[in-house]
Amino acid sequence: MKILEDIKVLDFTHVWFGPYCTMMLSALGADVITVEPPWGNIGRLGPGELYKGTSTSFMAVNCNKKGITIDMKKPEGIALVKELVAKSDVVVQNFATGAMERLGLGYDELKKIKPDIIYAALSGFGQYGPYSKYGSYAVVAEAISGHTYATGKGISPEHEPVDMAGALGDIGPGTFAAFAIVAAIRHRDKTGKGQMIDVNQVDTMASFNCCETVAYDLFKESPIERRRKRVRPPSELWGIIKVEDGWIQIAGSRPKAVEEMKAKLGVEEVTLDFVKEKLSTMTRKEAFAWLVSFDVPSAPIYEAYEGFDDPHLQARKTFVEVPHKLAGSYRIPKFPAEFSLTPGELKTGAHVLGQHTEEVLKKVLKKSKKQIEELEQNGTVTIWRP
Ligand SMILES: CC(C)(COP(=O)(O)OP(=O)(O)OC[C@H]1O[C@@H](n2cnc3c(N)ncnc32)[C@H](O)[C@@H]1OP(=O)(O)O)[C@@H](O)C(=O)NCCC(=O)NCCS
Repeated sequence: MKILEDIKVLDFTHVWFGPYCTMMLSALGADVITVEPPWGNIGRLGPGELYKGTSTSFMAVNCNKKGITIDMKKPEGIALVKELVAKSDVVVQNFATGAMERLGLGYDELKKIKPDIIYAALSGFGQYGPYSKYGSYAVVAEAISGHTYATGKGISPEHEPVDMAGALGDIGPGTFAAFAIVAAIRHRDKTGKGQMIDVNQVDTMASFNCCETVAYDLFKESPIERRRKRVRPPSELWGIIKVEDGWIQIAGSRPKAVEEMKAKLGVEEVTLDFVKEKLSTMTRKEAFAWLVSFDVPSAPIYEAYEGFDDPHLQARKTFVEVPHKLAGSYRIPKFPAEFSLTPGELKTGAHVLGQHTEEVLKKVLKKSKKQIEELEQNGTVTIWRP
């Protein structure tokens, strides 16, 4: 059994933010139909290198879904979308605010078709407020919420702002959107009522910076400035340390680990310099084994792909292999939470453009062969053929 197996999601998402949200829902069993324009959504072109014409990031955030193309600028296309809405529990979109309304597909319209629809409008700055109409990408939300500034200052107090790695301004809000949708499904199941959800990158990234803003509010001084004045005690084992074949991260503010180190090594005092000296002739693997032998929280610093070969990640099956029409297969991180009864699963790779158009028209909308041919001929849909 999959926890969301009875949930049908109609997905109008593109790039990273929205697609990551709907991929998380699909991993929990939701049946996700992704609608793209016949020319493909912009996420197919990047960010990420093109692999056989599609960006690797598209392939990473669109697993498990059924992909259909519909030209929503055509009345026939809008009619198809409305038929799909009638059969859906959830609609998710992350266009700039107003785009869905211009197509006649805003919440007010769609709830006339399906009164209990859960409509998640994902955006950069939210559905209201002076900046609400502005377009956005992860770095925009990271900038306005303090992360870009803090990332630079994390390198050194004088450092200029630095972009966060990993598009956390997309993946974080995408996760939050999935969480909000699941909560709204619970509410609908209790009350029979759908609702509109406004999840945006800026509010989410501000929430992710809660520690910095609370610290400022209590001291009325920038926490980065306060940190600059603070001198770390030499016994605080914290930071990135160079070892023979790379770097290791230690986060050893754990008194019992330091005491254990003193006892086992027979020394009076353990300082960061002492640990650095010990680690300097070790490999990452040796340094990690040495540190955890004293229970010091630590980890080797990897480039992401190195996780493929790590024995712990292998034991936990952190990466799973999914089939793909053009690549054959590729590896992707699994759905990361493990349920004892209802496991999440990423089973298939991203769809190629129009891969499931015919299947959805036939099986979900019960269109005849002739109707499908007409829709294809007048350019409303495209059908992928191997
Ligand atoms: C990412 C973003 C900047 C891209 O901007 P964009 O490529 O100019 O696209 P927009 O969202 O403004 O608009 C999409 C357009 O495609 C059209 N479109 C979308 N799907 C379509 C389809 N299936 N068929 C025909 N047209 C379609 C829309 O109608 C809209 O057209 P319009 O501008 O004429 O109204 C913008 O979508 C955005 O800010 N989204 C919210 C924040 C976000 O999620 N950012 C991405 C993070 S990864």
